[in-house]
Amino acid sequence: MTPTASQPAEAALTANALFLTLTLHPGAAALAAFRGFCADLPALVRAVGFRSAEAGLSCVPGIGAGLWERLEMGARPQGLHPFHALAGVHRAPATPGDILLHIRASRPDFCFELATQAMRRLGPAVTVEDETQGFRFFDNRDLLGFVDGTENPGGAALAAAVTVGDEDPPFAGGSYVVVQKYLHDLAKWEAMPVEAQERVIGRRKLSDIEFPASEKAAFAHNVLTNIVDAQGNPLQILRDNMPFGSPARGEFGTYFIGYAREPGRIETMLRNMFIGDPPGNYDRILDVSTAVTGGLFFVPAAAMLQRIGAGESLAAPDPEVEPPPRRDGSLGLGSLKRGD
Ligand code: HEM
Repeated sequence: MTPTASQPAEAALTANALFLTLTLHPGAAALAAFRGFCADLPALVRAVGFRSAEAGLSCVPGIGAGLWERLEMGARPQGLHPFHALAGVHRAPATPGDILLHIRASRPDFCFELATQAMRRLGPAVTVEDETQGFRFFDNRDLLGFVDGTENPGGAALAAAVTVGDEDPPFAGGSYVVVQKYLHDLAKWEAMPVEAQERVIGRRKLSDIEFPASEKAAFAHNVLTNIVDAQGNPLQILRDNMPFGSPARGEFGTYFIGYAREPGRIETMLRNMFIGDPPGNYDRILDVSTAVTGGLFFVPAAAMLQRIGAGESLAAPDPEVEPPPRRDGSLGLGSLKRGD
C-alpha cells in the first residue's frame, strides 16, 4: 500500500497505532508552524513510509473546533464543535486537544519514526496532551478479552459511513473522528463470570459469535451502539480501537477511535452508553471502564489539507484549484484498500 497522509477509511485494524493529541500554543508563530506541518505531512509520510511499503504507514490528521476558528478559513465543517462531555450514570469528560494524529502501521518503528518527525516540526508550537501507543492483542481482542472491530462496515457501506458528501460541499471527502481513552478495572471484570461478560458485550467471548437479538440484554453494548435513522437505515461508524497499557503500572486500556461522516451518530451512541436508552439502561462496559479523555476533530480531505497549509481561505473557492470531491471514500491520497 502506498504510504498516505489522510485516509480515514483505510488501514483499519493495523497491528500498531500511535495516537497524539496536541494543543497549539497561542500566537501567529505557532499557527504558521501548524500550516507548515499540514503542507509537509504528505511528504513526511512518503519519506518515512517508503522504506517499506508492507509497513502500510498512514497518518490521519484531525483538527479541533478551536483551532479551526483560528485558521480563519471563512467556512467551518457543519458538524465541528467541541466534544460534548456527558454526565449520566457514568461520566465522559471533554479534554483539551487542537490536533489529533492517528498514525497506523503494521510495525511500531514506523509509527514511532513518523511521530518523531511530526514532533520535530510541531514540538516548539504545541503542548502534548496525550500520547498513546496501541498494539494488536492476539486476534484483534481488546484487553477485556473480546474481539473488537467485527461489525465494522466494509466496501461501499464503509465509504458511506465515514466520508462527508454533498450535505456539506466545501468539506466533501473529509470525515469526523471522536477519540476517548478508557482505563479498565481488570480485576473487577475478571471477577465476573464469562457468561455475565458476554451479556455485557452481546457476543460470545471465545468464538466472537453475536447473540441472537432475542437473547441480548437491553443493556448489551451492541444493542446500545446499534442505531438507525428515522427511516430505519443503520447509522454506522468505523472503529479502530486499540489496546494500550503498562503491566508494571497496572494500566490496561482501550483507546476508542470512531470515524463518521457526521459526529451526531457517535454522540447518540455515547449518550446511549453513558446516560442510557432509556435513561438508566446504560452500558455495563462502563462499570469497569473509565473514560479519561474525550475529543472531536474534523479530518480534512487531502486537497483541503494543502489549502490549510497554503493559508488559503475557503470563502471564494476557485474551481481551477479545487478538484471535485472524490467519491471513492478515500481522502484523495493512495488507494482505498482495507486490511493492508
Ligand atoms: C471501553 C471501550 C469500548 C470497548 C472495550 C468496546 C468493545 C467493543 C466490542 C468487543 C464490540 C463487539 C465486536 C465488534 O463489532 O467490534 C464492540 C462493538 C461496537 N462498539 Fe464498542 N467498545 C468500546 C467503546 C465504544 C464506543 C465509545 C462506541 C461509540 C461511541 C462504540 C461503538 C461500537 C459499535 C457501533 C459496535 C458495533 C455494534 C454492532 O452493530 O454490533 N464502542 N465494541
